[in-house]
Amino acid sequence: MKSRGTKKGDEPLSKRPHLEPSLPTDPALYSGPFPFYRLPSQLGCFSLDEQRQYHGDARALRYYSPPPTSSQGPNFDLRDGYPDRYQPRDETVQEKLDHLLHWLMEHRGQLEGGPGWLAGATVTWRGHLTKLLTTPYERQEGWQLAASRFQGTLYLSEVETPAARAQRLSRPPHLRELMYMGYKFEQYMCADKPGGSPDPSGEVNTNVAFCSVLRSRLGNHPLLFSGEVDCTDSKAPSPEPPTCYVELKTSKEMHSLGQKRSFYRYKLLKWWAQSFLPGVPNVVAGFRNPEGFISSLKTFPTMKMFEYVRNDREGWNPSVCMNFCAAFLTFAHNTVVQDDPRLVYLFSWEPGGPVTVSEHRDAPYAFLPTWYVDAMSQ
Ligand code: A3P
Ligand code: MG
Ligand code: MG
Repeated sequence: MKSRGTKKGDEPLSKRPHLEPSLPTDPALYSGPFPFYRLPSQLGCFSLDEQRQYHGDARALRYYSPPPTSSQGPNFDLRDGYPDRYQPRDETVQEKLDHLLHWLMEHRGQLEGGPGWLAGATVTWRGHLTKLLTTPYERQEGWQLAASRFQGTLYLSEVETPAARAQRLSRPPHLRELMYMGYKFEQYMCADKPGGSPDPSGEVNTNVAFCSVLRSRLGNHPLLFSGEVDCTDSKAPSPEPPTCYVELKTSKEMHSLGQKRSFYRYKLLKWWAQSFLPGVPNVVAGFRNPEGFISSLKTFPTMKMFEYVRNDREGWNPSVCMNFCAAFLTFAHNTVVQDDPRLVYLFSWEPGGPVTVSEHRDAPYAFLPTWYVDAMSQ
């Protein structure tokens, strides 16, 4: 018979001297049944205009308008307009949660879920949750998430890592152009009005964004998050948001089996995580040739993406992604106990290691603006 001595991990954290709490990220620890994930519902939306100004309406929403199906396929020149018709967003401006907080401030009195729902919720961007979902499989880019508790609610806001900052500042010209090409594809595929046609002669301005604000729940963690939506499909089988939304993506044309394998293993994981969270049912991919032209389109239903890696030992598993995210939310809730908008816990992760935490007060990490704290305290 095995002796039942106390295992190290069973001791309360307070009894483990000099051991900082941390969260492991190995995929093997998070397999098991898929956790509860509430069908995401849209609470509202907002738009950012050409000057990156907030508007509490859907003015920036665009309409899915694919080209007529022809035997030749599309022939979109993604380099057209670069750099003369390109107005890139100023990436030195760190917006943190500000636009989402603006929406929340204006809707705090009308939130569904009953009184106290927000006090138990986690508020963040969809993109931050996407990074959490893919963490167990990520081998290249680490992340930092700042967390504060205020009026019960846990707020999570990403902090640019020094490595990400260095990469952004030294981004080579071909990567700048590649970024443009992703947005140019959206212009070829979207109209400004329902039933309208795309106008690729105009400018590509990446300040413009339409954001959906969604409610969901992962396990026992109520969530309120916002994500940018590329377009809506007026002909979608279920016309309500978020099921009418379409995510657009570009990717390199694939020829070999190896190229396809690697696309399914790495790219589809990110596409799945990004669209599964808000309940966007389809990702429309444009495949570009080495000359920068889109030569074919393919629709990937979000709920079928896992099939491409189900039998691949090196593939990803949605349960692992969601179980890890749930474990992180529990870890964050247990760490960020004090209710104080000026107190920040910084969660840091680098591939190969666990998630670690450090404590900070005020600048530069505090991210809940006084205009928000004051309004919510009225
Ligand atoms: P792709 O769709 O071709 O990747 P999104 O797909 O999320 O709607 O983003 C639109 C485009 O923004 C992307 O086109 C890409 O060009 C650019 N983009 C988004 N995230 C990026 C990132 N982390 N690094 C570089 N470019 C990014
Ligand atoms: Mg987008
Ligand atoms: Mg897109």
